[in-house]
Amino acid sequence: MGSHSLADTSDLRGQDGAAARAVDLVKTYGQGDTQVVALDGVSVDFTANEFTAIMGPSGSGKSTLMHAMAGLDSFTSGSAYIGGTDLSGLDDKALTALRRDRLGFIFQSFNLVPTLTAAENITLPTDIAGKTVDQEWFSEVTERLGLAQRLSHRPSELSGGQQQRVACARALVSRPEIIFGDEPTGNLDSNASSEVLDILRHAVDHDNQTVVIVTHDARAASYADRVIFLRDGRIVDELFEPTVDAILHVMAGIEG
Ligand SMILES: Nc1ncnc2c1ncn2[C@@H]1O[C@H](COP(=O)(O)OP(=O)(O)O)[C@@H](O)[C@H]1O
Ligand SMILES: [Mg+2]
Repeated sequence: MGSHSLADTSDLRGQDGAAARAVDLVKTYGQGDTQVVALDGVSVDFTANEFTAIMGPSGSGKSTLMHAMAGLDSFTSGSAYIGGTDLSGLDDKALTALRRDRLGFIFQSFNLVPTLTAAENITLPTDIAGKTVDQEWFSEVTERLGLAQRLSHRPSELSGGQQQRVACARALVSRPEIIFGDEPTGNLDSNASSEVLDILRHAVDHDNQTVVIVTHDARAASYADRVIFLRDGRIVDELFEPTVDAILHVMAGIEG
């Protein structure tokens, strides 16, 4: 086989089904006395078609880990892979293309373009990539997420929960290899949070999606298949099929 372009390898998984992988990932800020070790050698696989939650006290490195693995931020040493692609081998332009073509993002602050309608926000990454939006899939996603009657609205005309559902639709419509969410329910009330978490759960269970979220909410993390716990930039515990009680128990031990 010849060499592959990015487009040809877009469905490549890591060798054993990891959608994303960190190997001994280290991230330090600053130097000398004021140096902060935000990630202190993290190795983790995010298995394809699983929903993973990252938890840990404030400042434990959750955002740093997610941002490094999603190509949003550099790291000091170690490796990060999306599928079979080593992020450290990519320049800024290639990283931008990888984020656009292969990843989906949901942020706490929604990050919608205020001057665009909901429909335009949802298709923006696909449009920028110069790809054609799958209209049938667009209709199915927007219908399912309760946005069909809101597509011509601008973000300012939508509630926070509706705006985050637009962000979810934007992430889902391009069928990315993995969706990353940094505190995606952090600005939402409990009803809107449940809607977003149900959307992500459904995407994993029915659309073969892979999802990784950062959250400090045990109830949100209990939607996941697996929770990994960070403290001081290291993975200190993990749970599979987590219950709220089990999560709270681990968190109490970590924070105590
Ligand atoms: N831009 C930065 N400059 C210096 N230190 C930073 C920066 N970003 C994060 N940190 C530090 O790195 C550590 C991990 O931060 P972060 O990943 O944001 O934690 P979390 O998301 O778990 O709250 C913290 O000690 C934080 O203060
Ligand atoms: Mg954070």
